[in-house]
Amino acid sequence: MPAAPASLLTIFGATGDLAQRMLLPSLYSLQAEGLLPPDLRILGTARSELDREAFAGQVANAIAERVPAAERNDAAVRGLLDRLDYCPASVNDDASMATLAERVNALRNGDVLYHLSTAPRFYVPACHALGAHGAAGAGTRVMLEKPIGKNLTSAEAINDGVAEVFDEDRVYRVDHYLGKEGVQNLIALRFGNALFEPQWNARHIEQVQITVAETVGVEGRGDYYDDSGALRDMLQNHLLQLLCLVAMEPPAQFEPTAMRNEKIKVLRSLRAIGRDEVATEFVAGQYGAGAIDGVAVPSYAAELGRASSTETFVAMRAHVDNWRWSGVPFYLRTGKRMPSRCTEIYLQFRKVPHSIFGGAAAGDMRPNGLLIRLQPEERIELQLMSKTPGLDRSGLRLSQVALDLDFHTEFAASRKRLAYERLYLDAIEGNGTLFVRRDETEAAWQWVDAILDGWRAGATMPRLYPAGTWGPSAAVSLIERNGQSWRE
Ligand code: BG6
Repeated sequence: MPAAPASLLTIFGATGDLAQRMLLPSLYSLQAEGLLPPDLRILGTARSELDREAFAGQVANAIAERVPAAERNDAAVRGLLDRLDYCPASVNDDASMATLAERVNALRNGDVLYHLSTAPRFYVPACHALGAHGAAGAGTRVMLEKPIGKNLTSAEAINDGVAEVFDEDRVYRVDHYLGKEGVQNLIALRFGNALFEPQWNARHIEQVQITVAETVGVEGRGDYYDDSGALRDMLQNHLLQLLCLVAMEPPAQFEPTAMRNEKIKVLRSLRAIGRDEVATEFVAGQYGAGAIDGVAVPSYAAELGRASSTETFVAMRAHVDNWRWSGVPFYLRTGKRMPSRCTEIYLQFRKVPHSIFGGAAAGDMRPNGLLIRLQPEERIELQLMSKTPGLDRSGLRLSQVALDLDFHTEFAASRKRLAYERLYLDAIEGNGTLFVRRDETEAAWQWVDAILDGWRAGATMPRLYPAGTWGPSAAVSLIERNGQSWRE
């Protein structure tokens, strides 16, 4: 049965960093566009002993700081502030959770959406407390932030604990990449065009690359990050979700079960990279001191304040062992302190079966490529061969040219959205299509656990790379062994 729109959104961690940076500005935008249900109340909760006014003040500040001036208007700010309530609570203090549950039940006028924007260790106790105090029955659902655990065992423990209170169809696991406009555009590109599908397979595609590069270091999150590393922090979730969207079969419909049934098949088709394969299929790196855009930046160890064996970069060659993708390498890489911020997917097509162009043009030939750029700009580029203008006597000359679709130019009137605008709108309305199902999270952990185990068993340290470079040279060797190279 489709869920009803929420009448109450309860945000745990409402005074935290994610709330200030992303959640509250996203709610503001939904308010400004008139997309929130008219009667929706928003209840913030955190340990801080604030009253409603103080919390509303924080929300107003977050909007003033984070929402561009051109998008702010007083009526919309007031409209959002009028929806707010606040109730201090600590998951470790049962009496405060009982008070919170009472507030929830007093404020709700229909469905309730909880958003646990806290450390994952609080997910199960928070759900249990809501259940025990009568605030988690029918008509309630829960949104969980990543990471769901740090390996399969801990993910299962969280999922089991949450499932004791919320059935799976009431659990909305966030991977904020799925809320990004560019990521949904990948779905539109694949399934809204007849052109690509016949080519979208091993017969026509030579290799796929997925890169998520960041220029930032670990910022103030050293403690979390050092316990996690790039493989768990980025690859287990964001990169694997992108891989699923690239590799999945067409779902029958754009709806939660059909989409997730296809994604899980991809995850289950990933060839295991374990102890025997890790040395040739996987590279881990850690940034040393270097420079980005001419500005000197410290090493990871210096930012952290101690030596560490945590990886800030990973690159790997993955395979999706099924009919569609048999033999096609999927190169994945992600890292911090790379030379530029960029998230992109690149599909390289196979060469023409026979070139009719002899002479000089023979050396001009390049395979076609499809570049789907998700960040910082949203762009789709189809790389084609074209005649080089001129009257060359020795035959045609060819050049690679790009059919370029830049979304900011094409859709100049639409503003750049935060991923949480989409995610909140969907969760409030009870649509789980862009959220991650339990089996997906666990299959991803199972695959990643084997890699980590293989890597650790080799007792190798991550290879150092200077900040501001594309990772250790071993990442280049990894792809060059197949006669290919990273798109840069
Ligand atoms: C988060 C990771 O999930 O994604 C961060 O924990 C990372 O380490 C961030 O910086 C990247 O997200 P985005 O939206 O900036 O690409």
